[in-house]
Order: sequence, then C-alpha cells, then structure tokens
Amino acid sequence: MLGLIGGTGLNRLQGLVIDEQRKLSTQYGSPSGAVHLGQRDGQKIAFLPRHGHGHRIPPHAINYRANLFALKLVGVTHIIGVAAVGGIGAHMAPGELVLPDDIIDYTWGRQHTYSLGAQDPLRHIEFAPPYDAGLREALQHSAKRQNIKMMPSAVHGVTQGPRLETAAEVRRMGRDGCDIVGMTGMPEAALARELDIPYACLAVVVNWAAGVGAGDSIHAEIEKFVDIGMDKALRVIQDLQLS
Ligand code: HPA
Repeated sequence: MLGLIGGTGLNRLQGLVIDEQRKLSTQYGSPSGAVHLGQRDGQKIAFLPRHGHGHRIPPHAINYRANLFALKLVGVTHIIGVAAVGGIGAHMAPGELVLPDDIIDYTWGRQHTYSLGAQDPLRHIEFAPPYDAGLREALQHSAKRQNIKMMPSAVHGVTQGPRLETAAEVRRMGRDGCDIVGMTGMPEAALARELDIPYACLAVVVNWAAGVGAGDSIHAEIEKFVDIGMDKALRVIQDLQLS
C-alpha cells in the first residue's frame, strides 16, 4: 500500500474512494489527522495531509514522528511526500515538477528521530542518498508514461519556517548547492528511513524563492501555480507502478 503525505495544495485527495478513516494515536502523539484509507484507480492508498485536514498545522509544529509512525501502523510499504517548494536554480521555475535526489537540512528544534536515548538501540541510519532509489525510478517511469516533464534531480534545502526566507538566505542556499527550498521535507525523509520505509519526495515548484524571481509577490505566485503543479504530481502518482 502506498502512503501519500500531502502538503500545501494537497489537503484532500480527489478521486480517493475512502474505505475507512483511521484516527490513530501513537506513542509519539497524534498525527496531523485521520489517515484516509482507500483506493484511487485501483491503487490502495493511505493518505495523510501533513498540515491537517482543513486546518493548517505550521511546518515546525507538525508531529512528523507521529505521522510516519501512523503510516507504518496502517501498513504502508512505500511513502511519497508531496511538497510545495520555491525554486532557486534557474531551471526550477514555478509550475515545474521536481524529483529531488539530495537534501540539506536547515531545520532546528524538531523532533527528528525515533532514537530517544538509553532505552532505544542507537541507530546511525545511512542517509546518502536520502531518497529511495527504486521509488524515484518508479516515479520517473510514471512521469515518462504520462508525458509529464519532471526534473530528475535537485538538492532540496529545508528551512525552519514558517516565515519565508530572506534574499540573502536564498543566495547562500544557492551557494550551498540547493536547487529548491521547502519547509517540510525534514525530518520526514529521515524518519521514514529510520522506520525502513522507502520514501521519495515529489516536489512542486510553486514560486521563485525570495530574491530569485522578477518581482511577483511570492503568495500571488503560489496561488497561480499550486493547482497546476499539484495536478501534475497527482497524475504521476496515479500511474505509479510499485514493485
Ligand atoms: N520557501 C520555503 N518554503 C516554500 C517556498 C519558499 O519559497 N515555497 C513553498 N514552500
């Protein structure tokens, strides 16, 4: 079963025939909302909106540990985290779909591990590369079948939010090698790895990052591009063939 974590612009999954809504509480607390179990075009899906059903939990306040653990409890075998991001690299224009292959984590103060200390076996998970190769390949095949352009690699910089970045911060991220910037990619990806669940991020560029674009306000851009981008992401996910 595919676990799908929706981000900004993907709070509900159209076309999902819901069989069951599971309200779970985990030893790490409550996930962002009930996990919707259902089917979309014959594919079994467990859907969880990262920011909650209808209400907006800000990126730094999301209980990532509970979200990932809840998806594990319902039995997902793979997870795709859909994320709205800002574009830093010249090719990362609003409306583009991106399949990042690496991460720089700028977040702080988040509950970012299941290794809690003495009572848990300490695991130094390998995180290079941070995303699952097989799942990324399946997403690439699906995009090709659907004739949807998707950037095959990018470095995903993850900031703390909820404020957007300054132009100088974005310039620094560009020098660091970041191509896109979002606020929710971490610790989500690392927690999935700790739980041994193959995870990939499908990023939708919804704006030029601060100081990069020609001057449209970021929020105006997001409004303009979020639906187009999310629609493409869903078409890629819909045709995904998991091995
Ligand atoms: N910065 C950080 N997170 C984002 C952005 C951005 O420009 N756009 C969408 N999520």
